[in-house]
Amino acid sequence: MRVLPYHLPLVAVRGQGCRVWDADDHQYIDLNMAYGPLIFGHCPPAVIRAVQRQISNFGSQLGFPTEITTRVAEKLKRLFPSIELLRFANSGTEALASTARLARVFTGRDKIIQFEGHYHGWSEAVFTRYHAPLELLEGRDFGPAFPGTPGMMHGGPRDSLVVRWNNIDALARCLEAHPGQVAAIFMEPVMGNAGVIPPQPGYLEQARMLAHDHGALLVFDEVITGLRVAPGGAQELYGVEPDITVVSKSIGGGYPVAAFGASREIMEPIVNGSLFHGGVYSGNAVVMAATEAVLDQVLARGDAIYDRMREVSDRLADGFGEILSQAGVPHVMQHVGPMLSLFLMRDGVHPLREYRDVREHCAFDKYITLQHAMQRVGVYFHPNQFEPMFLSAAHGPEDIDAVLERFEQVVACTDL
Ligand SMILES: Cc1ncc(COP(=O)(O)O)c(C=O)c1O
Repeated sequence: MRVLPYHLPLVAVRGQGCRVWDADDHQYIDLNMAYGPLIFGHCPPAVIRAVQRQISNFGSQLGFPTEITTRVAEKLKRLFPSIELLRFANSGTEALASTARLARVFTGRDKIIQFEGHYHGWSEAVFTRYHAPLELLEGRDFGPAFPGTPGMMHGGPRDSLVVRWNNIDALARCLEAHPGQVAAIFMEPVMGNAGVIPPQPGYLEQARMLAHDHGALLVFDEVITGLRVAPGGAQELYGVEPDITVVSKSIGGGYPVAAFGASREIMEPIVNGSLFHGGVYSGNAVVMAATEAVLDQVLARGDAIYDRMREVSDRLADGFGEILSQAGVPHVMQHVGPMLSLFLMRDGVHPLREYRDVREHCAFDKYITLQHAMQRVGVYFHPNQFEPMFLSAAHGPEDIDAVLERFEQVVACTDL
């Protein structure tokens, strides 16, 4: 994702606030924020202080249960009331692989339902070809998963089913076609891996009901949305509680942490030792210190932080939209708080409700052209239209205005 054939080379040397500098000392306003985690920007002072204090006074890796781990768990639970017990891990991939195992042990079933365009990490357990070519999907609303990469002959994708997103009938039919077999439904409650595609009104509630009617668990992969779309993630924003929650990115503010949690009943196989979950570095003290600093800020002044992020996100989305409309460039802007997608369209404006819509109607080549031009004038976002832009509490209105000014100039002289 960092060095794709269509990337303009950029070797980053340092970051500060909402800016990064490359090896030639060019400065960029960063709209990627390391793919989401930097909710307080690069080098957030409170996180640095907490990490320095931890490594100077207490050590980085103690190898015992620690008080800081318990405190962080308690603080996460305050933000995510659906979690009673949780386990820490080092990445989203790890946490989701363990979640698949937990769901299988808890239900005694094999199959995992996933959705087209959703990504749950690269593990053997759940990595599927989430950006499958449209030809492979033609004529089906759900079906067996395609392995995410060569070499996955024996992994979980054999037991994964993939369904169209935002299509409740397809989900119902898939569950009916596999009675008593589905352990869990995994979803990004706001899809972020095929661009930003929010759930249709009522979709999450209906998916939850269907899961429970069929004895399956609902898993929210809030690796992107946790602490991003609201302090308590998409489950807070939409008022729908999953059975198992996975969080990562923003909770660590740039340090490698993830967690998965659920009710005591669901977590019991791990508590009683019948289900193995490990990791030498899980709950590492440096990472916990960083996470605690992030959570403390969100708990203390969440409203102000999220209001500000909403304000700058609306300003950016509205600004992009106005400039493109004035230039007559067909586009669709979709954003949920500080997670945004600017979709350039190939053939007029279409609603974008699922992965296939983006694949079919969006002008990926034009987006790359636009991204290159913006990178040349000091604004970075990922050149693949499937990757959202991410803002942070370090982006102010003046940064957004600087982005828009350059954007207007670029749009005026680029063939989109
Ligand atoms: C929704 C989602 N789940 C899981 C992952 C995997 O997380 P990691 O890269 O930390 O393993 C990602 C990574 O981008 C993600 O976006």
